[in-house]
Amino acid sequence: MNTVIQTILSRRSCRSFTEASVQTEDVKTLLACAAAAPSGRNQQLGQFTALTDRNKIQKLAAAVGKALGRENYDMYNPAVLIITSNDKTNVFREVDNACAMENIYLASEALGLGCVWINQLKDCFDNPQVRTLLNEFGIPENHGVYGCAAVGYRADRPAAKENKTVTKIVD
Ligand SMILES: Cc1cc2nc3c(=O)[nH]c(=O)nc-3n(C[C@H](O)[C@H](O)[C@H](O)COP(=O)(O)O)c2cc1C
Repeated sequence: MNTVIQTILSRRSCRSFTEASVQTEDVKTLLACAAAAPSGRNQQLGQFTALTDRNKIQKLAAAVGKALGRENYDMYNPAVLIITSNDKTNVFREVDNACAMENIYLASEALGLGCVWINQLKDCFDNPQVRTLLNEFGIPENHGVYGCAAVGYRADRPAAKENKTVTKIVD
């Protein structure tokens, strides 16, 4: 089978990571794949920011946990967190970033890494403590965060999932 198709069909979310760090070359590849995603009207308004310092990731997770009232929230303690942000006024902001998130998912799978979508920033990116950290990470003030990818080496391998999604061919 074509390797791209195989990667798409075998991709699974990962929620348990080893302590191993991810090579910078691989992080750059993930960012390039995010940036290569399609965008509405080809406006390319997204920014993809990779945090590769676990302390910074955990500082952000703690601020998000506090904002959302979730104790011990750790985003599954990944080696890398890719924050996908976009202009808050862009009508395509969420779909643009979803396309980039899927590219990150697939590229991670292709590189032998695990990945999972982290949705919680979407609900608190303008919380003052969260925003202070986003500012520190160089995410523009006019950007919202519409997804994050937690990435690292898998500590588990989930079984093939049951897929209830309806697909049809109408002749
Ligand atoms: C919009 C969106 C938001 C998601 N948010 C989260 C999340 O916050 N935490 C999480 O563990 N998984 C999250 N996921 C991952 C889904 O739970 C996962 O894709 C789904 O259970 C199917 O499993 P699979 O990715 O292994 O096929 C999200 C996925 C999408 C598309």
